[in-house]
Amino acid sequence: MKNETQISKKINIHAPIVEALKTAYDNPTYQFHIPGHTKGLGTLSDFRNLVGKKALKIDTTDEFDNLGTLNPATGPIKEAQELAAQAFGAKKTFFLLNGSTIGNLAIAMGLTKKGQKVIVNRNCHRSILTGLIISGAEPLWVLPEKFPQWGLWGNVKAQDIERLLDENDDVSMVWITNPTYEGVVSDVKAIADICRKYDVPLIVDEAHGCLWNFNSKLPESSLKLGADIVVHSLHKTGGSMSQSSMLHISKDSKISADDVERALMLLHTTSPSLMLLGSLDASRAHLQSDKGQRQLNRAISNAKYLRSEIDKMEHIHQLKSDFGYKTDVTKIFIKADGLSGKRLESILEIDFGIEVESASDEGILILSNIGNKRSDFEYLAQCLHKIDTHDYKDIYYMENKRHMPMLTPIIKMRLRDAYFSEKEIVPKEQAIGRLSGEVVAECPPGISILLPGELITEEHLPYLTDYQTIEVLK
Ligand SMILES: Cc1ncc(COP(=O)(O)O)c(C=O)c1O
Repeated sequence: MKNETQISKKINIHAPIVEALKTAYDNPTYQFHIPGHTKGLGTLSDFRNLVGKKALKIDTTDEFDNLGTLNPATGPIKEAQELAAQAFGAKKTFFLLNGSTIGNLAIAMGLTKKGQKVIVNRNCHRSILTGLIISGAEPLWVLPEKFPQWGLWGNVKAQDIERLLDENDDVSMVWITNPTYEGVVSDVKAIADICRKYDVPLIVDEAHGCLWNFNSKLPESSLKLGADIVVHSLHKTGGSMSQSSMLHISKDSKISADDVERALMLLHTTSPSLMLLGSLDASRAHLQSDKGQRQLNRAISNAKYLRSEIDKMEHIHQLKSDFGYKTDVTKIFIKADGLSGKRLESILEIDFGIEVESASDEGILILSNIGNKRSDFEYLAQCLHKIDTHDYKDIYYMENKRHMPMLTPIIKMRLRDAYFSEKEIVPKEQAIGRLSGEVVAECPPGISILLPGELITEEHLPYLTDYQTIEVLK
């Protein structure tokens, strides 16, 4: 059992990259190197004033100012990665720029080979598929539960993974997404036990679950439940800057960290932003600090408050964890009777100045973040009460487009072979009956509508209203 007091108590909060950046800022040198804006002087003054002179003064990359290097990790960057590994309970942690996307690419590129089978949930993020296209491994789809009344994918069932492992003796890894974007949690422990039984590594894309490690009221992190590798988008909910993520290798994994590192080295920029790396270091240190702990407790209590207000409403409903699966309390998916998710989102935005995380066909996703105040949630609850008691109408044009792809794919050709086949672009209507040549996966949620080699049918059209043309195989 996690114990927050233990986490925060007497850990000396130390953030080596942040400290090295402070030292560099306090001891400026005459700069004859990149970045060419030279501490912010060579850029538009409007931009400089907007982001602040100080921010531009510390915008540097990893060869300078004794800040260490990212690939391979040295100096303060290495130390910061080690502190992150300790904080998350990992054997090794890599800092990622270009988000969890690059983590997924590196896992596929470093650990899978052409023709190998990888069990993947169909609602995975498109970066996993891009990774598989690069490596040439083939997805073996597992379809999670569907929650049609919410228009959402649910949890991955352990017995489905076991069936696929039983039917295929050449699976190289199991790769699941946990939680879903909307916070539905799978039984990772049961899945990890099955993977161990079949001696197949388990990778968990936990992009949306990086806070779990820091509070016992949140679900248990997959690193503690037997996953070999876990990817976290710290920038999504952990408080670091956009694009910054982490990849952790678990303490008892047999997976080669060197293989992952080599792939990361090839994929990463060679000019990593120290500001982004510093923000990862800061976010880990903050989550371990008393203030970070208080903010996380507040985020949970704000979420509970909003949920209790929604329970009082007649026409607004929330996805709860009482249907046989768990959810992350801080991700609040709601729907309103008679309104599509897009319409509800637009009412909140236009009438009340509120921006939510995302909207899909049936509802909207609200995140209770560590940076939100209780008053934010009081205002949101007030607005939702107003919507609940007013007669808002849906608007037809918003209904034309479907957003959450939940179709069962009809696969006619291998992913990588199809991606590299000869293609042509045709008007959308003429694409029916042809094989897709492109990855169609809009963000959010970045879940595939169509992948190369899959048959395009009438069922896809509602998801493609913004497309005039589609790339198909010749
Ligand atoms: C489940 C999941 N994995 C990976 C990613 C990619 O994360 P990033 O935006 O950090 O590259 C996302 C992005 O939304 C995601 O939802």
